[in-house]
Amino acid sequence: MRILVRNGTVVTPSGTAVADVLIEGERIAEVAPHLQAEADRTFDATGRLVIPGGIDVHTHLDMPYGAFTTSDDFESGTVAAAFGGTTTIVDFAVQDHGASLHHAVETWKAKARGRAAVDYGFHVIITDLTGAGEREMDELVADGVTSFKLFTAYPGRLMVDDAAIFRALLRCASNGGTVMVHAENGGVIEVLQQRALAAGRTEALQHALTRPARAEAEAAHRAIALAELAGAPVYIVHVSAAETVEEIVAARRRALAVHGETCPQYLFLTERSYRDDGVRFVMSPPLRDEPAQERLWSALAAGDLEAVSTDHCPFTLADKHAHSDFTRTPGGAPGIEDRMSLLFDGGVAGRRFSLERFVELTSAGPARLFGLWPRKGALAPGSDADIVVWNAERERTISAKTHHMRVDYNLYEGRVVKGVAELVLSRGRPVVEAGAFVGRAGAGEFLRRAAR
Ligand code: URP
Ligand code: ZN
Ligand code: ZN
Repeated sequence: MRILVRNGTVVTPSGTAVADVLIEGERIAEVAPHLQAEADRTFDATGRLVIPGGIDVHTHLDMPYGAFTTSDDFESGTVAAAFGGTTTIVDFAVQDHGASLHHAVETWKAKARGRAAVDYGFHVIITDLTGAGEREMDELVADGVTSFKLFTAYPGRLMVDDAAIFRALLRCASNGGTVMVHAENGGVIEVLQQRALAAGRTEALQHALTRPARAEAEAAHRAIALAELAGAPVYIVHVSAAETVEEIVAARRRALAVHGETCPQYLFLTERSYRDDGVRFVMSPPLRDEPAQERLWSALAAGDLEAVSTDHCPFTLADKHAHSDFTRTPGGAPGIEDRMSLLFDGGVAGRRFSLERFVELTSAGPARLFGLWPRKGALAPGSDADIVVWNAERERTISAKTHHMRVDYNLYEGRVVKGVAELVLSRGRPVVEAGAFVGRAGAGEFLRRAAR
């Protein structure tokens, strides 16, 4: 099968030019102006942008959370991702206490197999790092599962101590893996939560008040120090606070391999959301204020934050409302479908950064950081034909009534955004065309990612 995407404005991090893209089978064969090529199908992209498929490196599909499970599985979640122009996800396989890391990966592979509509990889959430677990980390890196998330928060459930983080970092210093850290000081948060509950304060706003920005920055600072001591890189997930950005900037000035992502919710929403029907916004870290948003935007523009992912972790409103106490509300929110539009709207249409930077943040950057580049994240001969034809002028209104995520609310309900994925190809196969899903559940493949 040969597909020609003709006359689009092709955007890569290094530049933008009108060109044709020829696809042969699953790969890009050629990118050049005025290609004289026969094709089985031709798409006219005149007046449209042609960008590499989005890569969302932070999702939680079909993930148990106490008595709850995230409401998108690998089918509904990846179909929704595709509608938004995302053609690769890296999801988190969670280690059960006492179980092996391999078991986590096999469990998550079984969830994805036969369901995922776009390609996927896995990170592993380490909850309990034994000596055997350290050896497993080496094996997993060799098998293409090259990143590991550890938590400094959620005592008794996910939190590990500094020694475990340090051991994971040392292991990755030698095996080429990457440690990702959920940076919030779990001890501080627990004390603040207990004080709030003792004072009879159970409402959603307390979620933000008991998770202060400095508690995030402290944990990020510590993770960075541990990474420096271990001689390993570190990736700080879902950065929400200006104080955390400053820790990352200071480390990068010292030429440390410190990387960070943020998520659309921290760029577009504030803690005011907790005041009415706030439980739907319960996620960790919590939403912050406008100055924090502006600091995140400037760090994205300057290259100090290198990726925008979603932390897609959807629970239905019934699940969000199942408990009246904010400490028992399942944490997380949906977003996999709207990442590209939101970032395009706020970043490019909002004149905060260039088209090229948009592509870097949503696709090329995550691909490089997580061992997928140049197979993913590049519009170049030999790369997978994960391609989005993007209408930069078209507007749409975000709404739970029209989204494809399997969840009954949208964080951005009613927001009008500029930028729509009109055609989405995954390894050369159309998956979204003219507003309809035309792909196949199960067509997505497991991605073996490269070590550093
Ligand atoms: O509240 C959140 N973010 N839930 C998802 C798990 C995590 O910490 O990333
Ligand atoms: Zn986290
Ligand atoms: Zn997460």
